[in-house]
Amino acid sequence: MNYCFAETKPHAVVSPYPAQGHINPLFKLAKLLHLRGFHITFVHTQYTYKRILKTRGPNALDGLPDFRFETISDGLFSMDYDDADVRQHRPSLLNSVRKNCLQPFRDLLVRLNQSATDGHNHNPPVTCLVSDCYLTFPIQAAQEFSLPILLLCPSSAASLLTVMHFPTLLDKGITPLKDESYLTNGYLENKADCIPGMNNFRLKDLLSYVRTTDPNDVMVEYILEVADRVPRASAIAFNTFDELESDVLDALFSVFPSLYTIGPLTSFLNQSPHNYLATFGSNLWKEDHECLEWLESKEPSSVVYVNFGSFTVMSAEQLLEFAWGLTNSKKPFLWIIRPDLVIGGSVILSFEFVNETRDRGLITSWCPQEKVLNHPSIGGFLTHCGWNSTTESLCAGVPMVCWPFFADQLTNCRYICKEWGVGIEIDTNVKRKEVEKSVNELMVGEMGKKMRQKIMELKKKAEEDTKPGGSSYLNLDKVIKEVLLKQN
Ligand code: UDX
Repeated sequence: MNYCFAETKPHAVVSPYPAQGHINPLFKLAKLLHLRGFHITFVHTQYTYKRILKTRGPNALDGLPDFRFETISDGLFSMDYDDADVRQHRPSLLNSVRKNCLQPFRDLLVRLNQSATDGHNHNPPVTCLVSDCYLTFPIQAAQEFSLPILLLCPSSAASLLTVMHFPTLLDKGITPLKDESYLTNGYLENKADCIPGMNNFRLKDLLSYVRTTDPNDVMVEYILEVADRVPRASAIAFNTFDELESDVLDALFSVFPSLYTIGPLTSFLNQSPHNYLATFGSNLWKEDHECLEWLESKEPSSVVYVNFGSFTVMSAEQLLEFAWGLTNSKKPFLWIIRPDLVIGGSVILSFEFVNETRDRGLITSWCPQEKVLNHPSIGGFLTHCGWNSTTESLCAGVPMVCWPFFADQLTNCRYICKEWGVGIEIDTNVKRKEVEKSVNELMVGEMGKKMRQKIMELKKKAEEDTKPGGSSYLNLDKVIKEVLLKQN
């Protein structure tokens, strides 16, 4: 369906939170809207804008006449964008975005509308906003400019449900935890049944922010702000599909009826005909495409793909446990080690490790993940369980070994391992024996075989839901008509 009108196109201003795991799903939704006839302005904050230009080259954000990129200030001028420690310093990024982006965003909307009337820039007037549900300033701007706003949740529906119930968790005294002993004395094993739809979940499976012991934690204030603002949006869309999180979606529907499941966006885009935007990238790191050639030399389903996403960090000791677990598993592996993966230092792998794995291991710093996951040589994914990695793995039919780190990854891990049965969890305190055992079980064990069958069923379901007539496909059409094209 194309909503390209005779005179002017509808114009969506799309804004992600400035982090890789948020930019990617918003970018996918922007592409889908563009394919349906929308004019798109995709807004990066300066932090990510500069990084993309640096890694992808000066023309990376040139865009198309009707798919443009803009940047707004996030107040991080003085930061060194190359400094790995800064990149990992989430609280300062979060605070700066919360405090500084509203006015530049308002200015941008005014500028876009002015250029629509002065006829220089050929962009139509702004007709709707599409924003990351973890950004609050676009919700305020939508009210001020009387524009409809669709929020996209870049993580699972369960994570947003937890955010919405955060005030209840605080009222009941469940969070913040009274002291550190609550982390170790079994308290976290308690059921999270005060959140409807999450009866099977334990407190330890919830968003990691629930585990804070500090009532003044910046995340507490931030999550309360998100919980307060989200219901003011016109609608929320989820990068999920109905079968994945049905209980949670039912619970969310009862409090927020304007809800649309439009995922997995990955599967949606893969099936979109004429996807001329396929080469439009949104990565903040430079991708190594040579690893795809290396995969060509490997047997089908033989390689373990190891990647911990864009934010996860680990100690040098944990890195070594993974390294020796992979070595001892004797399986070929492609391991993505970001330059800032190891806390407080550079990555050092011993000569013995390099020597032992020379013929069957490849290490690089960033890759085109979806292409890798869909390569026939990949047989398993050792992952941190970010929601994008989870849904991308599912759409590629690749079962997982899970090492969740923080945020929603704990909830996602619970889904992967217990609810859907397509992954094996390894302990936070990772040991090489457990890595070796889990990798072997996944790649050649009976359990791995069953998981592969199950994940292929989910992959098929995802494809059905995102093809014409499928529920996510229909929901995208509905949200366009009912929300984005609606005049306030
Ligand atoms: C963060 C949170 O950790 C995650 O839990 C939340 O759901 C979204 O924000 P991140 O840790 O980066 O995201 O993980 P993930 O959600 O998996 O997103 C990473 C994205 O980067 C994926 O789309 C993946 O395809 C891409 N990627 C990652 C690459 O293209 N290449 C790489 O080498 C690594």
